[in-house]
Amino acid sequence: MGHERSPSDEPAWAAHHRNSFLQRFGGAPEGVRLFFAPGRVNLFGGHLDYNGGPVMPTAIDRGTFLALRPRPDRVLHLESRMDSQGLRFDIDRVPRERCGRWVDYPVGVIRELLAWQAERRPEMHLQGLDILFGGNLPVGAGLSSSASICVGTAFALSEVWDLGLSRREQVHSALDAERGFVGVQCGIMDPYAIGMAKPGHLLWLDCKDQSYEHLPIDFDRLSIVVANSGVQRELAAGEFNKRVAQCAQAFQALRRYAPEAQVLRDVAPETFESHRVRLEPTLARRAQHVVNEVERTFLAREALLRGDLEELGGFMTATHRSLRDNFEVSSPELDLLVEAAIECDGCYGSRLTGAGFGGCTVLLADPASVPAIVEHVRQRYAAEKGWHPDIEVFQGDEGPRTIGA
Ligand code: GLA
Repeated sequence: MGHERSPSDEPAWAAHHRNSFLQRFGGAPEGVRLFFAPGRVNLFGGHLDYNGGPVMPTAIDRGTFLALRPRPDRVLHLESRMDSQGLRFDIDRVPRERCGRWVDYPVGVIRELLAWQAERRPEMHLQGLDILFGGNLPVGAGLSSSASICVGTAFALSEVWDLGLSRREQVHSALDAERGFVGVQCGIMDPYAIGMAKPGHLLWLDCKDQSYEHLPIDFDRLSIVVANSGVQRELAAGEFNKRVAQCAQAFQALRRYAPEAQVLRDVAPETFESHRVRLEPTLARRAQHVVNEVERTFLAREALLRGDLEELGGFMTATHRSLRDNFEVSSPELDLLVEAAIECDGCYGSRLTGAGFGGCTVLLADPASVPAIVEHVRQRYAAEKGWHPDIEVFQGDEGPRTIGA
């Protein structure tokens, strides 16, 4: 957003990233390998993944670039184009504690990969690496820059070290790194959305049994537009973990009335309605969102497959209102972006995306109407907030890959 290169111009980004690597680490260009992992935007199933529900995200054509070159020793040297402070350590002495900076993400994944290697391929000798990270995804905006860097690291190191992890193992290394080392109790959606992406499709992921399928989306009829509020609440991670805990508490209280239920997603709306008075009001609101959102996500899937875009968009806006009122993860800026979008002709619906507490909204629109919608939302936002938000149209993506070979 606001780059000198077109954000999705992959060859230009790749060449730039390779040059940055050479400036940073010196040496010859031979032996430098480049990788890319996308970000994601979630369309349906807000805050359902850690409740075992279905979600419908898509990978986007922006993400993390990694440049790697083997070293003759066993040192891993991690640098980023977005932060002047890198980290160097020996493969046999990987940090055990997080430090609260960006390196926690790749370090967490490296720990997972080394544990995998020690168990599955102990005979292998691993070489040190110089690694440069960079990207064209806004950080902390709800587009999963963290899962992008984690899945990208798992994919790239599995390739360079020739470990042979399956894609699902890469996804789970990324997930375990974020949960275990970085300390965010995130659900499975983000790394799956990135790792299992297929162009021209949304991912339908059932977070209870981790099964997934790809649902076609026609980008000639439907544009996915993302508006960045430019505001991120400081306490976002803490608030996110609080929502995870509240859902777990609500499930504990409700499960005695739904003996078959394994996760909150399994509690039927009627069961919830009959027993909601037994829940403390905040927990009741959280559970209300989850049970309704499960139903809405199944209905949205049907609407997508039928090609009923008006109905699809209506579900999206209903999701936003529930995330605002019941789950309480919206912000005045996100509400303004949504309201400004849905008053436009050709906008089918809009909602906050990602965890909330700031970050981005997503809207679905008729491609022909996108320029007018973007203009209206930018002007209305600027009139009330004093600056113009970044708004971009995103295409799908094919997932982690080697680039610029
Ligand atoms: C964050 C988490 C995801 C998911 C969303 C909310 O992005 O990382 O696992 O819970 O919030 O839908």
